Amino acid sequence: MSTEAAALPQKTPLLQSRLGSFLAVVPLSIWVINHLWDNLAAFSGGAAWQSSVTTYAHPFSQALAFLVSLVPLIFHTGWGLVRLLSFRPNNLAYNNYGNLKYLLQRLSALGALAFLGAHIWKAFLAPRLLNGAPEAFDDIAREMRFHGPTLVVYLLGTLATAFHLANGLQGFGMAWGIFSSERSMRRFEPVVIILFLVLLAMAWGSLYALYQAGEALGPRTGTQIEM
Ligand code: HEM
Repeated sequence: MSTEAAALPQKTPLLQSRLGSFLAVVPLSIWVINHLWDNLAAFSGGAAWQSSVTTYAHPFSQALAFLVSLVPLIFHTGWGLVRLLSFRPNNLAYNNYGNLKYLLQRLSALGALAFLGAHIWKAFLAPRLLNGAPEAFDDIAREMRFHGPTLVVYLLGTLATAFHLANGLQGFGMAWGIFSSERSMRRFEPVVIILFLVLLAMAWGSLYALYQAGEALGPRTGTQIEM
């Protein structure tokens, strides 16, 4: 780089480039892990799931939870989209594991974006805004059991999110200098794989519990209102 170029102001200030990365982990990743944990209450039935996932002690805590998860998500999505726009895949020329994960991090980001858009609208906003009540256990359980596209979207969306989060932590460690060498970064690899599998087991476990519960409820009848 010439001294003239070095003297020019940086296109992306450090704070801005690091903030998107920081918000992805604190609070977004923490929120996602907590949300997956809450959803495991589906194994204990409708009342337990409803109290764990959709009930808030106070409208203020509901608004706060929404802000704490949504604002970082919007910021991180903008930060991620800027990175995606400058991405030129070269996996055929450099066919190695690290480069494959780099590509998958970006593909899973697009999967997570599509899934989260649909999920936030269908499961959080629409029931509250259109029906004045949170998503009901019976509705989501029935959808999971009797509406194939919903089940497929949830299976793939949570797969993308689990990979994106687990693999993203390694990228985060590199960006923040937590790994002092390439060797220490590679030693983190089993942690990424285990975390990915644990997150996936939590997500797919909840989907399985909803699917099972849906069977006992039976398909929606003509008299039931669609959410
Ligand atoms: C539940 C939602 C999400 C979580 C928990 C999450 C988490 C993460 C984490 C932990 C990282 C690593 C940060 C770093 O490299 O410093 C990351 C990277 C990334 N995220 Fe997300 N993310 C989510 C949604 C999204 C969405 C919706 C997009 C939209 C396009 C996106 C795009 C990206 C991109 C492109 C990277 C790679 C950045 C790079 O390597 O330069 N993410 N994400």
